[in-house]
Amino acid sequence: MTNPFGRFDDSKREYVITRPDTPLPWLNYLGQDEFFGLCTNTAGGYTFWKDAKLRRLTRYRYNNVPYDLGGRYIYVNDGGSVWNPGWKPIKAKLDAYECRHGLGYTRIIGQKDGLEVEMLLFVPPGENLELWKVTVRNKSKVAKQPKIFSFQEFCLFDAANDMNNLQRTYSIGEVEIDGSAIYHKTEYRERRDHYTLFACTRPVDGFDTSRDAFVGIHEGLHDPKVPFAGKCTNSKAFGWNPIGAHQINLNLAPGQEETFSYILAYVEQGKEPKYDSLYVMNKKVGKAIVDKYSKPGAIDTAFAKLGTVWGDLLSNFQANSPDPHANRMLNVWNQYQCMATFNMSRSASMYETGIGRGMGYRDSNQDLLGFMHMIPSRARERILDIAATQLSDGTCYHQYQPLTKKGNAEIGGDFYDDHLWLILSTCQYIKETGDVSILKAPCSYADKPDAKTDLLHHLEISIAYTMKKRGPHGLPLIGHADWNDCLNLNCFSTEPNESFQCAGDVKDSKAESVMIAGLFLYASREMAALYDFMGKGDDAARMRAGYDDMLKVIETHAWDGEWYRRAYDAAGTPVGSKENPEGKIFIESQGWCVLGGAGQNNGRAKQAMESVHKHLFTKNGAVLQQPPYSTYHVELGEVTSYPPGVKENAGIFCHNNTWINLGWCLLGDGDRALEYYLSICPSAKEDQIETYRSEPYVYAQMIAGKDAVCFGEAKNSWLTGTAAWTFVSVAEGILGIKADFKGLSINPCIPKAWKGFSATRKFRGVEYQIEVKNPSGICKGVKKVTVDGKAVAGNVVPFEAGKKVVKVEITLEA
Ligand code: GLC
Ligand code: GLC
Repeated sequence: MTNPFGRFDDSKREYVITRPDTPLPWLNYLGQDEFFGLCTNTAGGYTFWKDAKLRRLTRYRYNNVPYDLGGRYIYVNDGGSVWNPGWKPIKAKLDAYECRHGLGYTRIIGQKDGLEVEMLLFVPPGENLELWKVTVRNKSKVAKQPKIFSFQEFCLFDAANDMNNLQRTYSIGEVEIDGSAIYHKTEYRERRDHYTLFACTRPVDGFDTSRDAFVGIHEGLHDPKVPFAGKCTNSKAFGWNPIGAHQINLNLAPGQEETFSYILAYVEQGKEPKYDSLYVMNKKVGKAIVDKYSKPGAIDTAFAKLGTVWGDLLSNFQANSPDPHANRMLNVWNQYQCMATFNMSRSASMYETGIGRGMGYRDSNQDLLGFMHMIPSRARERILDIAATQLSDGTCYHQYQPLTKKGNAEIGGDFYDDHLWLILSTCQYIKETGDVSILKAPCSYADKPDAKTDLLHHLEISIAYTMKKRGPHGLPLIGHADWNDCLNLNCFSTEPNESFQCAGDVKDSKAESVMIAGLFLYASREMAALYDFMGKGDDAARMRAGYDDMLKVIETHAWDGEWYRRAYDAAGTPVGSKENPEGKIFIESQGWCVLGGAGQNNGRAKQAMESVHKHLFTKNGAVLQQPPYSTYHVELGEVTSYPPGVKENAGIFCHNNTWINLGWCLLGDGDRALEYYLSICPSAKEDQIETYRSEPYVYAQMIAGKDAVCFGEAKNSWLTGTAAWTFVSVAEGILGIKADFKGLSINPCIPKAWKGFSATRKFRGVEYQIEVKNPSGICKGVKKVTVDGKAVAGNVVPFEAGKKVVKVEITLEA
């Protein structure tokens, strides 16, 4: 069965939505640098600069009815018939509709009664603005005089305040109007020296800036007064709810079309004086923006540049494998999603309101793993920002606001896995670039801003913290929770209005995490390899001693007989053990113990993975644990709060599935690795889209597990660690192409049926053209490597500066 709602257009790198009434709003992101817009397939969504909480430019009401309402709307009044090219909010029946989500842009085309309206929405690279290029085409045989109304609602910059402090916000809204330009300047009179500009590139026939005037008091966005009346009121907002709306009257002969654009910009005054005269703002910066994009060709040039930017970014990694899903996801959509998670962390999506979680410490470090190869310089900056929110005792602020870069404890603290992820991102950065100078970069601690420490010191105290903070079995203390935010072993919450993430006291707590132990193995092994690379043998040996110590603890205290246990709770009872009536086996500790190198010599790694297969794997991915918890356990916390089959209570948490994929690669089972990959791959869900419901082009955080009534339904798409880790599991695991300290390591683990694959990987400025052959149908085993025709020993292609293109041929053989 094909997907009735849309299809991939692989050659254009677009997803084409052919029906507006998708099973859920299907989202795209506009913007790649600092200005971002969320844009659904019906043009819904909002924009912000850097920080969805502190610099929200346009307004959006979350959990609205319908879900997705409010956005960049064009209302068309064609001889009294009023409609939107993106179908919503009026939902008039269209004669044709198409939405193309592309890389950094969305193009929506609607047609009714012979009039076609196309909107192309994008943020030009390097700019703090969004452009809406609108083309109106008369495809009928009669002349038409359509009136076109633009509409969007301004947010008063602080999105949280905007939502809940109406006694103030209803009195402070201010705008100025200057020809086709609307300036939203709320709070400019006091502490803001920035504003939002909403302008049109051609003269307008009217405007509105008061929502009450444009929409009405008792009307909604589906029946707004002005578009139906066919005439703007030229209202000037004073308090209440400022909006931006323009009216354009067209006169189109049959076959005639007209194009114009809207500019929605975030403008900072910089050194310019704030006012020209009392109450009249100095509009110089805004005017320059309008001038720039009113020049013929300026918008098309900007759009072409966007295409070049994305073409270049994606050219860093391209593969051609026998699997079409893997190809399109890896080459286009997965990398694209990695840009979104890099920029947004878990802050702003259809499921993250932008006022909740900012940049997560553990999340952002993991997001970097899928982003590193695209723009390492931005990754470097991010690593240092994250590290600066670490505290001098080794723990971390769990999140920070992107605008201020200051950590906060609003969603809790003392997650004792947080600090270790910094080691993974930093090592990955050094492997990608060879740039060890980052370790010397000055980097203080959040609680000691003047400390003269460097990044390496942060990595060292991260290792030291986990080495030191151990529980009764010698396993690392879990603190508030580890990667599994909901495994709250020190929380004991009985108060329904309390946040699980903030409740409880971790001081003197004894609960231990096997997952952190596994992660520690991985991190300390990375540190050892890093020190070897730096020629610091003693430090490497010190790291290896820590590794050996932890490995022993794991093998002694964490093995349950058929899999690794998950944790010990505060009372010392095992979690994730056959001794437990529910929650007998968890996925995370299998993944991390195996990836950390546990169970290698005693068969346990293989057995743990087989247990995952037997107890957790389903056709829609592996569930997080089994059996699910049927009742609330005060000693386990939020994990038992969810109904069975969703989220951390035996949902398919796609993020951790990728660790299992990597585990299969480590064990050399390429068939399983691909099978697991495809089980959560959105592109492979098109034939069950009515169940899956989420976007088929990006990974979701969660798919409902086998214990849920809605088994197979995806939720929380876009902003998930699944993006980065899936990229890693396919690019580095299955295809086996991995940046390493001394060169490019190539060690594929593919399905037996694959005859081979090819890939291009740019690495430290050199383009590696890789050809892998699998003549005897095996999964793993590099037999022969030639580099530019010359045989090379081992499977690391040594980095040689100065070369442009390097041809690598690999033959797999048992
Ligand atoms: C969410 C959080 C992440 C956490 C995961 C599991 O994805 O953003 O930090 O590790 O849930 O609880
Ligand atoms: C993660 C979990 C979610 C939990 C949240 C708390 O996102 O997936 O279940 O409520 O973390 O921060």
